[in-house]
Amino acid sequence: MSAAQWIVLKFGGTSVSTKARWATIGKLANSRLAEGGCVLIVVSAVSGVTDQLKALIEAEPAARAELAQRLVEQHRAFAAELGVDAAILAEVEAELDECLSSPHAAARAFPWQARVFALGELWSSRLGAAFLTASGTTTEWLDARTQLSAQALPNQGDWARHLSTTCQVQHAPALAEQLAQAGRSQITQGFIARNLSGETVLLGRGGSDTSAACFGTLLGASRVEIWTDVPGMFSANPRRVPQARLLRHLDYDEAQEIATTGAKVLHPRCLGPVREGGVPLWIKDTQRPDLEGTCIDASGGDGPLSVKAISHRIGVTLVSMESIGMWQQVGFLADVFDYFRRHGLSVDLIGSAETNVTVSLDPSENLLSADTLEALCADLARVCRVKVIAPCAAITLVGRGMRRMLHRLSEVLAEFGEQRVHLVSQSSNNLNLTFVVDESIAEALLPRLHEHLIRARVMAVDDARLFGPSWEALSAPEDVTLPLPWWQRERDKLLQIAAEQGPAYVYHLDSVRNQARRLQQIEPVDRWFYAIKANDHPQLLQALVAQGFGLECVSAAEVAHVQRHCADLDAARIMFTPNFAPRDEYRQALAADVMVTVDALHALAQWGEDFAGAQIALRVDLGPGRGHHDKVRTGGSASKFGLAPSELAQAQELARKVGAKVVGLHAHLGSGILDPQHWAEVYAQLAALGERFVDLRWLDIGGGLGVPGQGERELDLDLVAAGLAKVKALYPQWALHMEPGRYLVADAGVLLTRVTQTKLKHGVRFVGVDAGMNALLRPALYDAVHPIANLTRLDEPATETVTVVGPICESGDVLGRERRLPASVEGDIIAIAQAGAYGAVMANRYNRRPLIAEVLL
Ligand code: LLP
Repeated sequence: MSAAQWIVLKFGGTSVSTKARWATIGKLANSRLAEGGCVLIVVSAVSGVTDQLKALIEAEPAARAELAQRLVEQHRAFAAELGVDAAILAEVEAELDECLSSPHAAARAFPWQARVFALGELWSSRLGAAFLTASGTTTEWLDARTQLSAQALPNQGDWARHLSTTCQVQHAPALAEQLAQAGRSQITQGFIARNLSGETVLLGRGGSDTSAACFGTLLGASRVEIWTDVPGMFSANPRRVPQARLLRHLDYDEAQEIATTGAKVLHPRCLGPVREGGVPLWIKDTQRPDLEGTCIDASGGDGPLSVKAISHRIGVTLVSMESIGMWQQVGFLADVFDYFRRHGLSVDLIGSAETNVTVSLDPSENLLSADTLEALCADLARVCRVKVIAPCAAITLVGRGMRRMLHRLSEVLAEFGEQRVHLVSQSSNNLNLTFVVDESIAEALLPRLHEHLIRARVMAVDDARLFGPSWEALSAPEDVTLPLPWWQRERDKLLQIAAEQGPAYVYHLDSVRNQARRLQQIEPVDRWFYAIKANDHPQLLQALVAQGFGLECVSAAEVAHVQRHCADLDAARIMFTPNFAPRDEYRQALAADVMVTVDALHALAQWGEDFAGAQIALRVDLGPGRGHHDKVRTGGSASKFGLAPSELAQAQELARKVGAKVVGLHAHLGSGILDPQHWAEVYAQLAALGERFVDLRWLDIGGGLGVPGQGERELDLDLVAAGLAKVKALYPQWALHMEPGRYLVADAGVLLTRVTQTKLKHGVRFVGVDAGMNALLRPALYDAVHPIANLTRLDEPATETVTVVGPICESGDVLGRERRLPASVEGDIIAIAQAGAYGAVMANRYNRRPLIAEVLL
């Protein structure tokens, strides 16, 4: 190690284009210098300049002088704005003149192009050196070409050797020392280097990142910081997936894989040099320097098994080659690939079968024109039948140990099941799994896949070492700080309840009322019913009834419960929506005059006399179900709920025969839905079926409104309302009903439970609590993820990754896996949040454990 400690800071085009941005660079450089070492600043050309130089190169020689003059004036004007003497630009201007009059200019020789392109970085670095020095940070100007030398690779063409070359670097302690002697703050150019003949060459697209990485390794820097316009790398393209999470920590290989498979933040080439030198690389946001960003180093892969990102590339071309003669034929692949080599095409993914080989061509690595492709196909046609499939998109899941996560990908695979997958490829380094689909469907898939990965816990977003806030949260206006959840505000009371009661569900009525008010803002809905199966605590029912809600029941016992505790509620405001309930329950409900929904022909066909004179609703299965888990989707051919639309006519006829009036149509397709368009779709479909029912008065589009888990986006009620309003305008004749459960109560309940013991086995740390799947079944039944906090140690930092388990004799008795908690000890109170819906109501007495107490705050 050299004694001189360097930090390399790289700034892109927009970061060097205004005086304010240069002031920021100065501040950042100073704060790094304050760490005691030296700073090397690597800069790109001012925004737009590289494009102008390209235009100059492509222009006719006679037109070049004018374009050149414009560039000269632009940089002189910028010098004036920065308050520095334009004389410092003289050398660059002289170099430009030389280029213009060069004998190579007419032919646009590649070495000449490289010299012209290099001017952009020379200009910006000259301006920067003068500005920073004038602002009090003496900064030396360093010509990158004196330090970075490029090697030509064996198969490299002329173009690549001059305009897209690579450097091999090694730590050079003497250089680090010598530069430090010359000045603690230095500025140099990205993108440019020299070759062995001393000519200027370019490092290709994204070359400035690569320059910074090379300098980092050369100087043995303590880190390389890449300053950009985004807060770091994300678990998906944030512009397509706003819930994408900041990636706090990656290892070199994962970062390489993410950069290669689509993320544009970092150029994939720049990771090689830092990996070689073991130099950590940070990605930081110039506009918000205090944000943590992404850190890439050798230790990033130590965390839990997790998919880190889902990336995607468009413009992918598949070439499928079919040959019956190929089976076991020696050399077939060699022949085929030789054609790709001859046309200068680099193959990315490969799938092979006995009679078919399909490969993908990645546009970022290939100069793929229609002509090249045609010529390739003509050649290939000599040895096989060729088919080109394009445009395709490659969607890639990236994470170390991909093969060990396959069993958790069922939901993700199901999502692909409905699309046309052309090729699946699993990388041999076990870092990625790629699906090639039609380009047109890829973007819409990304948010759904991302959501599945989080839900299936394949993406360990609650591990704060790996994942940071979502893009959405980071782009929210800064002064909006979310209020603490109620159970954190009421911590003292909860601790007291836990001490007195033992394990208990605690409910917060104000939260329920607030949620009810939010729903009641959805104007197109005429009547709200609360699905009491979610939580039937009497006081909670009374609070909702007081707020104008009717109640929806699924059993005669629920109806009786409602009648007992809400005696004043009009029978017409009670809905009975059974499924496979015995005849007797229908009779009781009809006798009580509540609104009965029929969802099978059997009831009307076999028990006709019970329905004589009654007003009923029919429940329709509009197929395919929706929701947070397969087990809560209540639509589609495998579902036991509802009448098929094709049975409606028969149901109508049976109702007519027994003398019942169909006054309502009902549909409920599942639970935990976060897609705001869902209900408008159900509404429109139901309404379309409504025309044939002359006595129809209302449509009930069910419940299912989801509450977001970690990293998920909240259901946008304004969008729900807007969607419903559109349908309502078409069918104003029928009232609209909805019957949510979860949305009203989920966040209003926590389960409090006490730590009974801890255990460290095979490296897994277990925290045992006195309420398990007997109290809260959802994690075991649906892999549901409930937030878990140590309420006793709420203010302490999370230092352990633990699995929280209950006392039940089942290996599925796990309340949360891989959770970050403070070190927990026997007696601590653990709060399991979002437990107000389908918590206590689904509790059981398995292992003869008593039911858990319910307490209202
Ligand atoms: N209406 C009908 C006809 C229903 O079957 C349900 C729920 C609802 C309304 C209310 O759905 P919500 O708004 O709560 O999503 N135990 C599962 C949920 C099962 C939902 C059953 N039906 C869970 O814990 O996720």
